[in-house]
Amino acid sequence: MSTQPTPLSRRRFVGAAGLVAGSMITRPLFGQNAPSNKLNVALIGVWGRGLAHYDSIAEENVVALCDINEARFPDALKRFPNATTYIDWRKCLDHKGLDAVVVCTPDHTHAFIANWALKRNLHCYCEKPLAITVDEARTVRATWETKKGKLATQVGMQRHANPNFNRVRELIRDGAIGELKAAYAWGNRQIPRPGYFPEEGQPPKGFHYDLWLGPSPFHPYNPAYFSGGAGANCLSWNMFWDFGAGQIGDMGSHTMDLLWNAVDGGLPTSAEAKGDAYNSDVTPVKCESHFELPANDWRGPITVAWYQGGAMPSSPKKHIDLTQIGHGAMFKGTKGFLIADFDSRLILPYGNDADMSYYKPRKKEDMLPDIGHFQKQWFDACRDPSKPTACNFGYSADMIEMMLLGLVAYRTGKKIQYDGKTGKSPDTPEANAFMKKEYRPGWNIDG
Ligand SMILES: NC(=O)c1ccc[n+]([C@@H]2O[C@H](COP(=O)([O-])OP(=O)(O)OC[C@H]3O[C@@H](n4cnc5c(N)ncnc54)[C@H](O)[C@@H]3O)[C@@H](O)[C@H]2O)c1
Repeated sequence: MSTQPTPLSRRRFVGAAGLVAGSMITRPLFGQNAPSNKLNVALIGVWGRGLAHYDSIAEENVVALCDINEARFPDALKRFPNATTYIDWRKCLDHKGLDAVVVCTPDHTHAFIANWALKRNLHCYCEKPLAITVDEARTVRATWETKKGKLATQVGMQRHANPNFNRVRELIRDGAIGELKAAYAWGNRQIPRPGYFPEEGQPPKGFHYDLWLGPSPFHPYNPAYFSGGAGANCLSWNMFWDFGAGQIGDMGSHTMDLLWNAVDGGLPTSAEAKGDAYNSDVTPVKCESHFELPANDWRGPITVAWYQGGAMPSSPKKHIDLTQIGHGAMFKGTKGFLIADFDSRLILPYGNDADMSYYKPRKKEDMLPDIGHFQKQWFDACRDPSKPTACNFGYSADMIEMMLLGLVAYRTGKKIQYDGKTGKSPDTPEANAFMKKEYRPGWNIDG
Protein backbone atom coordinates (compact mmCIF):
# COMPACT_ATOMS: atom_id res chain seq x y z
CA MET A 1 0.00 0.00 0.00
CA SER A 2 1.17 3.50 -0.78
CA THR A 3 2.13 5.75 2.09
CA GLN A 4 2.25 8.80 -0.16
CA PRO A 5 -0.51 11.38 0.19
CA THR A 6 -3.12 11.61 -2.52
CA PRO A 7 -3.10 14.82 -4.62
CA LEU A 8 -6.05 15.97 -2.54
CA SER A 9 -4.40 15.27 0.78
CA ARG A 10 -1.20 16.88 -0.50
CA ARG A 11 -3.16 20.03 -1.22
CA ARG A 12 -4.80 19.83 2.20
CA PHE A 13 -1.38 19.46 3.77
CA VAL A 14 -0.10 22.58 2.01
CA GLY A 15 -3.20 24.47 3.08
CA ALA A 16 -2.77 23.43 6.70
CA ALA A 17 0.93 24.35 6.70
CA GLY A 18 0.08 27.76 5.30
CA LEU A 19 -2.50 28.30 8.07
CA VAL A 20 -0.08 27.48 10.89
CA ALA A 21 2.82 29.44 9.50
CA GLY A 22 0.83 32.54 8.54
CA SER A 23 2.65 34.59 5.92
CA MET A 24 5.90 32.65 6.18
CA ILE A 25 6.97 30.98 2.92
CA THR A 26 5.89 27.42 3.62
CA ARG A 27 4.58 26.41 0.23
CA PRO A 28 6.84 24.20 -1.82
CA LEU A 29 8.84 26.01 -4.48
CA PHE A 30 8.16 23.30 -7.05
CA GLY A 31 5.42 20.77 -7.69
CA GLN A 32 1.77 21.07 -8.62
CA ASN A 33 0.97 22.91 -5.39
CA ALA A 34 3.78 25.42 -5.75
CA PRO A 35 3.08 28.98 -6.90
CA SER A 36 4.78 28.16 -10.22
CA ASN A 37 2.24 25.35 -10.68
CA LYS A 38 4.96 23.30 -12.33
CA LEU A 39 4.73 19.57 -11.91
CA ASN A 40 7.54 17.52 -10.43
CA VAL A 41 8.14 14.99 -13.18
CA ALA A 42 10.20 11.82 -13.50
CA LEU A 43 11.25 10.45 -16.89
CA ILE A 44 11.80 6.69 -16.82
CA GLY A 45 13.80 5.57 -19.88
CA VAL A 46 15.70 8.72 -20.80
CA TRP A 47 17.05 7.83 -24.25
CA GLY A 48 15.28 6.52 -27.39
CA ARG A 49 11.59 7.37 -27.22
CA GLY A 50 12.35 9.29 -24.05
CA LEU A 51 14.11 11.95 -26.15
CA ALA A 52 10.82 12.74 -27.90
CA HIS A 53 9.41 13.86 -24.54
CA TYR A 54 12.23 16.23 -23.59
CA ASP A 55 10.63 19.38 -24.97
CA SER A 56 7.27 18.81 -23.24
CA ILE A 57 8.70 17.81 -19.88
CA ALA A 58 11.18 20.70 -20.01
CA GLU A 59 8.19 22.99 -19.42
CA GLU A 60 7.72 21.27 -16.06
CA ASN A 61 10.15 20.62 -13.22
CA VAL A 62 12.09 17.45 -14.07
CA VAL A 63 13.21 16.13 -10.69
CA ALA A 64 14.15 12.53 -11.53
CA LEU A 65 15.69 10.64 -14.43
CA CYS A 66 15.72 6.85 -14.43
CA ASP A 67 17.54 4.51 -16.79
CA ILE A 68 19.16 1.09 -16.44
CA ASN A 69 21.97 2.33 -18.71
CA GLU A 70 24.08 4.83 -16.79
CA ALA A 71 25.78 5.88 -20.04
CA ARG A 72 22.56 7.74 -20.92
CA PHE A 73 22.71 10.05 -17.89
CA PRO A 74 25.38 12.63 -18.89
CA ASP A 75 23.42 13.85 -21.94
CA ALA A 76 20.09 13.76 -20.10
CA LEU A 77 21.59 15.74 -17.24
CA LYS A 78 22.79 18.41 -19.64
CA ARG A 79 19.13 19.09 -20.39
CA PHE A 80 17.81 18.48 -16.86
CA PRO A 81 20.72 19.37 -14.56
CA ASN A 82 18.67 19.44 -11.35
CA ALA A 83 17.34 15.90 -11.62
CA THR A 84 18.29 13.02 -9.35
CA THR A 85 19.28 9.88 -11.27
CA TYR A 86 17.99 6.36 -10.58
CA ILE A 87 18.71 2.99 -12.17
CA ASP A 88 15.70 1.22 -10.63
CA TRP A 89 12.24 2.61 -11.45
CA ARG A 90 10.86 1.23 -8.18
CA LYS A 91 13.14 3.61 -6.25
CA CYS A 92 12.46 6.45 -8.68
CA LEU A 93 8.71 6.27 -8.01
CA ASP A 94 9.45 6.98 -4.36
CA HIS A 95 11.23 10.25 -5.16
CA LYS A 96 9.94 12.75 -2.61
CA GLY A 97 7.41 15.27 -3.94
CA LEU A 98 6.96 13.55 -7.29
CA ASP A 99 3.69 14.42 -9.07
CA ALA A 100 3.89 12.72 -12.44
CA VAL A 101 5.84 10.12 -14.37
CA VAL A 102 6.56 9.61 -18.08
CA VAL A 103 7.35 5.97 -18.92
CA CYS A 104 9.51 5.29 -22.01
CA THR A 105 10.95 1.89 -21.08
CA PRO A 106 10.54 -1.38 -23.02
CA ASP A 107 7.09 -2.91 -23.26
CA HIS A 108 7.58 -5.69 -20.70
CA THR A 109 7.82 -3.10 -17.92
CA HIS A 110 4.92 -0.81 -18.90
CA ALA A 111 2.06 -2.38 -16.96
CA PHE A 112 4.31 -2.75 -13.91
CA ILE A 113 5.46 0.86 -13.84
CA ALA A 114 2.03 2.22 -14.77
CA ASN A 115 0.30 0.21 -12.05
CA TRP A 116 2.87 1.08 -9.39
CA ALA A 117 2.71 4.76 -10.36
CA LEU A 118 -1.09 4.89 -10.02
CA LYS A 119 -0.92 3.10 -6.69
CA ARG A 120 1.45 5.84 -5.51
CA ASN A 121 -0.99 8.52 -6.69
CA LEU A 122 1.24 9.65 -9.52
CA HIS A 123 -0.13 10.92 -12.81
CA CYS A 124 1.18 8.64 -15.51
CA TYR A 125 1.97 8.95 -19.23
CA CYS A 126 3.00 5.51 -20.49
CA GLU A 127 4.37 4.77 -23.92
CA LYS A 128 2.41 2.23 -25.91
CA PRO A 129 1.58 -0.60 -25.50
CA LEU A 130 0.09 -0.32 -22.02
CA ALA A 131 0.46 -4.07 -21.47
CA ILE A 132 1.76 -7.25 -23.10
CA THR A 133 -0.75 -9.72 -21.63
CA VAL A 134 -4.53 -9.67 -21.17
CA ASP A 135 -4.00 -9.97 -17.44
CA GLU A 136 -1.66 -6.95 -17.31
CA ALA A 137 -4.20 -4.81 -19.18
CA ARG A 138 -6.89 -5.85 -16.71
CA THR A 139 -4.66 -5.15 -13.70
CA VAL A 140 -3.84 -1.62 -14.83
CA ARG A 141 -7.47 -0.89 -15.71
CA ALA A 142 -8.66 -2.11 -12.32
CA THR A 143 -6.28 0.27 -10.54
CA TRP A 144 -7.17 3.09 -12.93
CA GLU A 145 -10.87 2.59 -12.11
CA THR A 146 -10.10 3.49 -8.49
CA LYS A 147 -8.19 6.66 -9.51
CA LYS A 148 -10.43 7.95 -12.32
CA GLY A 149 -10.96 11.70 -12.07
CA LYS A 150 -8.11 12.01 -9.56
CA LEU A 151 -5.11 11.07 -11.68
CA ALA A 152 -4.35 11.92 -15.30
CA THR A 153 -3.32 9.03 -17.55
CA GLN A 154 -2.36 8.81 -21.21
CA VAL A 155 -0.89 6.07 -23.40
CA GLY A 156 1.59 7.26 -26.04
CA MET A 157 -0.65 6.86 -29.08
CA GLN A 158 0.06 10.43 -30.14
CA ARG A 159 -1.28 10.06 -33.69
CA HIS A 160 -4.68 10.26 -31.97
CA ALA A 161 -4.23 14.04 -32.01
CA ASN A 162 -4.30 14.08 -35.86
CA PRO A 163 -7.56 15.84 -36.83
CA ASN A 164 -8.26 12.86 -39.13
CA PHE A 165 -9.09 10.73 -36.06
CA ASN A 166 -11.96 13.10 -35.25
CA ARG A 167 -13.10 13.29 -38.87
CA VAL A 168 -13.23 9.48 -39.22
CA ARG A 169 -15.18 9.23 -35.98
CA GLU A 170 -17.69 11.88 -37.08
CA LEU A 171 -18.26 10.21 -40.46
CA ILE A 172 -18.89 6.80 -38.87
CA ARG A 173 -21.09 8.20 -36.10
CA ASP A 174 -23.07 10.37 -38.51
CA GLY A 175 -23.84 7.45 -40.81
CA ALA A 176 -21.73 8.37 -43.86
CA ILE A 177 -21.50 4.63 -44.67
CA GLY A 178 -24.89 3.68 -43.21
CA GLU A 179 -25.02 1.36 -40.19
CA LEU A 180 -21.59 0.14 -39.12
CA LYS A 181 -21.16 -3.62 -39.49
CA ALA A 182 -17.44 -4.36 -39.50
CA ALA A 183 -14.07 -2.67 -39.07
CA TYR A 184 -10.58 -3.78 -40.06
CA ALA A 185 -7.13 -2.42 -39.25
CA TRP A 186 -3.78 -3.54 -40.60
CA GLY A 187 -0.04 -2.92 -40.50
CA ASN A 188 2.66 -4.09 -42.87
CA ARG A 189 5.77 -4.03 -40.66
CA GLN A 190 7.67 -7.34 -40.69
CA ILE A 191 10.57 -8.18 -38.38
CA PRO A 192 11.19 -11.92 -38.62
CA ARG A 193 13.54 -13.54 -36.06
CA PRO A 194 14.23 -17.23 -35.49
CA GLY A 195 14.39 -16.94 -31.68
CA TYR A 196 16.01 -15.20 -28.72
CA PHE A 197 19.57 -14.12 -29.48
CA PRO A 198 22.27 -16.49 -28.17
CA GLU A 199 24.54 -15.41 -25.33
CA GLU A 200 27.19 -13.00 -26.55
CA GLY A 201 29.58 -10.69 -24.72
CA GLN A 202 28.98 -8.89 -21.46
CA PRO A 203 26.81 -5.86 -20.72
CA PRO A 204 28.95 -2.71 -20.79
CA LYS A 205 29.92 -1.15 -17.46
CA GLY A 206 26.98 0.74 -16.01
CA PHE A 207 24.44 -1.23 -18.07
CA HIS A 208 22.21 -3.03 -15.56
CA TYR A 209 21.03 -5.97 -17.61
CA ASP A 210 19.25 -7.67 -14.74
CA LEU A 211 17.12 -4.55 -14.26
CA TRP A 212 16.53 -4.42 -18.02
CA LEU A 213 15.11 -7.95 -17.86
CA GLY A 214 13.05 -6.83 -14.88
CA PRO A 215 10.00 -9.07 -14.41
CA SER A 216 10.69 -11.15 -17.54
CA PRO A 217 12.24 -14.61 -17.45
CA PHE A 218 16.02 -14.69 -17.89
CA HIS A 219 17.49 -14.64 -21.39
CA PRO A 220 21.24 -14.20 -21.82
CA TYR A 221 22.69 -10.84 -22.80
CA ASN A 222 23.32 -10.12 -26.46
CA PRO A 223 24.15 -6.63 -27.84
CA ALA A 224 21.70 -7.26 -30.70
CA TYR A 225 18.86 -6.34 -28.30
CA PHE A 226 20.38 -2.86 -28.12
CA SER A 227 21.57 -2.24 -31.66
CA GLY A 228 18.80 0.06 -32.93
CA GLY A 229 18.87 3.83 -33.27
CA ALA A 230 17.18 6.25 -30.90
CA GLY A 231 13.42 5.62 -30.83
CA ALA A 232 13.78 2.54 -33.06
CA ASN A 233 15.61 0.24 -30.67
CA CYS A 234 12.22 -1.19 -29.67
CA LEU A 235 12.35 -3.03 -33.01
CA SER A 236 15.30 -5.04 -31.61
CA TRP A 237 13.30 -6.63 -28.80
CA ASN A 238 9.54 -6.09 -29.19
CA MET A 239 8.87 -9.26 -31.24
CA PHE A 240 9.97 -11.59 -28.42
CA TRP A 241 7.17 -12.91 -26.22
CA ASP A 242 8.99 -11.98 -23.01
CA PHE A 243 9.75 -8.40 -24.07
CA GLY A 244 6.82 -7.31 -26.19
CA ALA A 245 3.74 -8.29 -28.15
CA GLY A 246 5.10 -8.01 -31.69
CA GLN A 247 3.25 -5.76 -34.10
CA ILE A 248 0.19 -5.73 -31.86
CA GLY A 249 2.07 -3.67 -29.31
CA ASP A 250 4.12 -1.80 -31.88
CA MET A 251 2.24 -0.27 -34.84
CA GLY A 252 -0.91 -2.16 -33.87
CA SER A 253 -1.38 0.19 -30.90
CA HIS A 254 -1.40 3.22 -33.19
CA THR A 255 -3.48 1.74 -35.99
CA MET A 256 -6.11 0.02 -33.88
CA ASP A 257 -6.48 3.37 -32.10
CA LEU A 258 -7.70 4.89 -35.38
CA LEU A 259 -10.38 2.19 -35.57
CA TRP A 260 -11.19 2.01 -31.85
CA ASN A 261 -11.75 5.75 -31.61
CA ALA A 262 -14.36 5.54 -34.35
CA VAL A 263 -16.31 2.50 -33.17
CA ASP A 264 -16.39 3.09 -29.39
CA GLY A 265 -15.12 -0.42 -28.88
CA GLY A 266 -15.53 -2.48 -25.76
CA LEU A 267 -14.25 -5.88 -24.74
CA PRO A 268 -15.03 -8.58 -27.31
CA THR A 269 -17.15 -11.64 -26.71
CA SER A 270 -15.01 -13.86 -28.93
CA ALA A 271 -11.63 -14.02 -30.63
CA GLU A 272 -10.16 -16.14 -33.40
CA ALA A 273 -6.74 -15.85 -35.04
CA LYS A 274 -4.41 -17.55 -37.49
CA GLY A 275 -0.93 -16.85 -38.77
CA ASP A 276 2.64 -18.11 -38.92
CA ALA A 277 3.40 -21.41 -37.21
CA TYR A 278 3.74 -20.94 -33.44
CA ASN A 279 7.25 -20.17 -32.18
CA SER A 280 7.72 -20.19 -28.41
CA ASP A 281 10.35 -17.39 -28.64
CA VAL A 282 8.88 -14.94 -31.10
CA THR A 283 5.42 -13.57 -31.80
CA PRO A 284 4.05 -14.24 -35.30
CA VAL A 285 4.99 -11.89 -38.14
CA LYS A 286 1.98 -12.71 -40.31
CA CYS A 287 -1.23 -12.99 -38.35
CA GLU A 288 -4.88 -11.98 -38.47
CA SER A 289 -7.27 -11.79 -35.51
CA HIS A 290 -11.04 -11.50 -35.61
CA PHE A 291 -13.29 -10.34 -32.78
CA GLU A 292 -17.01 -9.97 -32.11
CA LEU A 293 -17.94 -6.79 -30.25
CA PRO A 294 -21.34 -6.33 -28.65
CA ALA A 295 -23.72 -3.49 -29.53
CA ASN A 296 -23.34 -0.19 -27.73
CA ASP A 297 -25.68 2.79 -27.32
CA TRP A 298 -25.31 4.03 -30.93
CA ARG A 299 -24.63 0.94 -33.06
CA GLY A 300 -25.42 -2.75 -33.32
CA PRO A 301 -22.91 -5.57 -32.80
CA ILE A 302 -19.87 -5.42 -35.08
CA THR A 303 -16.88 -7.52 -36.02
CA VAL A 304 -13.38 -6.08 -35.69
CA ALA A 305 -10.27 -7.53 -37.30
CA TRP A 306 -6.53 -6.88 -37.04
CA TYR A 307 -4.13 -7.93 -39.84
CA GLN A 308 -0.36 -7.79 -39.69
CA GLY A 309 2.85 -8.76 -41.44
CA GLY A 310 1.39 -9.38 -44.90
CA ALA A 311 -2.12 -10.52 -43.93
CA MET A 312 -4.67 -8.07 -45.35
CA PRO A 313 -8.44 -7.63 -45.52
CA SER A 314 -9.96 -7.96 -48.99
CA SER A 315 -10.42 -4.73 -50.84
CA PRO A 316 -14.01 -3.77 -51.70
CA LYS A 317 -12.83 -2.91 -55.26
CA LYS A 318 -10.02 -4.41 -57.33
CA HIS A 319 -8.78 -0.96 -58.29
CA ILE A 320 -8.33 0.04 -54.64
CA ASP A 321 -5.05 -1.51 -53.56
CA LEU A 322 -5.15 -1.52 -49.77
CA THR A 323 -1.54 -2.73 -49.63
CA GLN A 324 -0.54 0.78 -50.72
CA ILE A 325 -1.62 1.91 -47.24
CA GLY A 326 1.08 0.62 -44.89
CA HIS A 327 -0.95 1.16 -41.72
CA GLY A 328 -4.63 1.68 -42.25
CA ALA A 329 -8.22 1.03 -41.26
CA MET A 330 -11.37 0.23 -43.18
CA PHE A 331 -14.97 0.43 -42.01
CA LYS A 332 -17.86 -1.41 -43.65
CA GLY A 333 -21.38 -0.08 -43.34
CA THR A 334 -24.71 -0.96 -44.89
CA LYS A 335 -24.20 1.75 -47.54
CA GLY A 336 -20.48 1.81 -48.18
CA PHE A 337 -16.90 1.69 -46.99
CA LEU A 338 -14.62 4.22 -45.37
CA ILE A 339 -10.88 3.68 -45.80
CA ALA A 340 -8.37 5.68 -43.78
CA ASP A 341 -4.72 6.10 -42.96
CA PHE A 342 -3.49 8.24 -40.08
CA ASP A 343 -4.16 11.56 -41.77
CA SER A 344 -6.64 11.08 -44.59
CA ARG A 345 -9.77 9.09 -45.53
CA LEU A 346 -11.95 8.26 -48.47
CA ILE A 347 -15.57 7.19 -48.67
CA LEU A 348 -16.78 4.56 -51.09
CA PRO A 349 -20.58 4.48 -51.26
CA TYR A 350 -22.03 1.31 -52.81
CA GLY A 351 -25.35 -0.17 -53.82
CA ASN A 352 -28.33 1.38 -55.58
CA ASP A 353 -29.42 3.55 -52.68
CA ALA A 354 -25.93 4.74 -51.72
CA ASP A 355 -26.47 8.20 -53.12
CA MET A 356 -25.44 9.68 -49.76
CA SER A 357 -28.70 11.64 -49.50
CA TYR A 358 -29.16 9.76 -46.19
CA TYR A 359 -26.09 11.49 -44.78
CA LYS A 360 -26.16 15.02 -43.38
CA PRO A 361 -22.66 16.42 -42.84
CA ARG A 362 -22.05 18.21 -39.55
CA LYS A 363 -21.96 21.93 -39.42
CA LYS A 364 -18.50 23.34 -38.85
CA GLU A 365 -19.44 24.41 -35.32
CA ASP A 366 -20.48 20.83 -34.42
CA MET A 367 -17.15 19.28 -35.44
CA LEU A 368 -15.21 17.60 -32.63
CA PRO A 369 -12.63 20.00 -31.24
CA ASP A 370 -8.94 19.43 -31.91
CA ILE A 371 -7.03 17.68 -29.14
CA GLY A 372 -4.05 19.97 -29.61
CA HIS A 373 -0.65 18.82 -28.37
CA PHE A 374 -1.04 15.23 -27.17
CA GLN A 375 1.49 15.35 -24.30
CA LYS A 376 0.21 18.76 -23.24
CA GLN A 377 -3.32 17.37 -23.03
CA TRP A 378 -2.01 15.04 -20.34
CA PHE A 379 -0.11 17.79 -18.49
CA ASP A 380 -3.28 19.92 -18.49
CA ALA A 381 -5.18 16.98 -16.99
CA CYS A 382 -2.46 16.49 -14.35
CA ARG A 383 -3.28 20.00 -13.14
CA ASP A 384 -7.01 19.37 -13.40
CA PRO A 385 -7.79 15.63 -13.60
CA SER A 386 -11.42 16.39 -14.42
CA LYS A 387 -10.12 17.31 -17.90
CA PRO A 388 -10.15 14.45 -20.42
CA THR A 389 -7.19 12.71 -22.00
CA ALA A 390 -7.85 10.99 -25.31
CA CYS A 391 -6.00 7.76 -24.55
CA ASN A 392 -6.55 7.35 -20.82
CA PHE A 393 -5.81 3.98 -19.25
CA GLY A 394 -9.47 2.90 -19.46
CA TYR A 395 -9.74 3.42 -23.22
CA SER A 396 -6.24 2.10 -23.87
CA ALA A 397 -6.52 -0.95 -21.60
CA ASP A 398 -9.73 -2.07 -23.34
CA MET A 399 -8.14 -1.69 -26.75
CA ILE A 400 -4.93 -3.55 -25.95
CA GLU A 401 -6.82 -6.25 -24.04
CA MET A 402 -8.76 -7.05 -27.20
CA MET A 403 -5.59 -7.05 -29.33
CA LEU A 404 -3.74 -9.30 -26.86
CA LEU A 405 -6.71 -11.65 -26.73
CA GLY A 406 -6.01 -12.17 -30.42
CA LEU A 407 -2.61 -13.61 -29.50
CA VAL A 408 -4.30 -15.87 -26.94
CA ALA A 409 -6.69 -17.19 -29.60
CA TYR A 410 -3.75 -17.61 -32.00
CA ARG A 411 -2.00 -19.83 -29.44
CA THR A 412 -5.07 -22.00 -28.91
CA GLY A 413 -5.70 -22.31 -32.65
CA LYS A 414 -9.45 -22.05 -31.97
CA LYS A 415 -12.26 -19.54 -31.92
CA ILE A 416 -12.62 -18.75 -28.22
CA GLN A 417 -15.48 -17.17 -26.33
CA TYR A 418 -14.49 -14.40 -23.93
CA ASP A 419 -16.08 -13.11 -20.75
CA GLY A 420 -14.85 -9.55 -20.26
CA LYS A 421 -16.16 -9.51 -16.67
CA THR A 422 -13.88 -12.33 -15.51
CA GLY A 423 -11.14 -12.15 -18.13
CA LYS A 424 -11.61 -15.85 -18.83
CA SER A 425 -12.69 -17.97 -21.75
CA PRO A 426 -15.78 -19.94 -20.69
CA ASP A 427 -15.46 -22.50 -23.50
CA THR A 428 -11.70 -22.88 -23.96
CA PRO A 429 -10.05 -23.42 -20.57
CA GLU A 430 -6.58 -23.88 -22.12
CA ALA A 431 -6.78 -20.26 -23.32
CA ASN A 432 -6.70 -18.98 -19.75
CA ALA A 433 -3.05 -19.96 -19.29
CA PHE A 434 -2.10 -17.64 -22.16
CA MET A 435 -3.84 -14.60 -20.66
CA LYS A 436 -0.93 -14.06 -18.26
CA LYS A 437 2.73 -14.83 -17.88
CA GLU A 438 5.12 -15.92 -15.15
CA TYR A 439 7.30 -13.19 -13.67
CA ARG A 440 10.73 -13.61 -12.15
CA PRO A 441 10.74 -13.99 -8.38
CA GLY A 442 10.83 -10.63 -6.63
CA TRP A 443 8.72 -8.82 -9.25
CA ASN A 444 5.13 -8.03 -8.34
CA ILE A 445 2.90 -6.07 -10.70
CA ASP A 446 0.67 -5.04 -7.83
CA GLY A 447 3.44 -3.65 -5.66
N1 LIG B 1 4.67 6.53 -29.39
C1 LIG B 1 5.52 6.25 -30.35
O1 LIG B 1 5.36 6.64 -31.50
C2 LIG B 1 6.74 5.43 -30.03
C3 LIG B 1 7.85 5.45 -30.87
C4 LIG B 1 8.96 4.68 -30.51
C5 LIG B 1 8.92 3.91 -29.37
N2 LIG B 1 7.82 3.91 -28.58
C6 LIG B 1 7.75 3.10 -27.36
O2 LIG B 1 8.71 3.60 -26.46
C7 LIG B 1 9.24 2.53 -25.69
C8 LIG B 1 10.74 2.58 -25.73
O3 LIG B 1 11.18 2.32 -27.04
P1 LIG B 1 12.70 2.65 -27.44
O4 LIG B 1 12.86 2.33 -28.86
O5 LIG B 1 13.04 4.01 -26.95
O6 LIG B 1 13.46 1.52 -26.54
P2 LIG B 1 14.94 1.45 -25.97
O7 LIG B 1 15.33 0.02 -25.94
O8 LIG B 1 15.82 2.40 -26.73
O9 LIG B 1 14.78 1.95 -24.47
C9 LIG B 1 14.54 3.31 -24.15
C10 LIG B 1 15.33 3.70 -22.91
O10 LIG B 1 14.84 3.00 -21.79
C11 LIG B 1 15.93 2.51 -21.02
N3 LIG B 1 15.46 1.39 -20.22
C12 LIG B 1 15.31 0.11 -20.59
N4 LIG B 1 14.79 -0.62 -19.58
C13 LIG B 1 14.60 0.24 -18.54
C14 LIG B 1 14.10 0.10 -17.21
N5 LIG B 1 13.65 -1.06 -16.75
N6 LIG B 1 14.09 1.19 -16.43
C15 LIG B 1 14.54 2.39 -16.88
N7 LIG B 1 15.02 2.59 -18.13
C16 LIG B 1 15.04 1.53 -18.95
C17 LIG B 1 16.97 2.18 -22.08
O11 LIG B 1 18.27 2.06 -21.52
C18 LIG B 1 16.83 3.36 -23.02
O12 LIG B 1 17.60 4.46 -22.59
C19 LIG B 1 8.66 1.25 -26.26
O13 LIG B 1 7.65 0.78 -25.42
C20 LIG B 1 8.08 1.65 -27.60
O14 LIG B 1 6.92 0.91 -27.93
C21 LIG B 1 6.74 4.67 -28.88
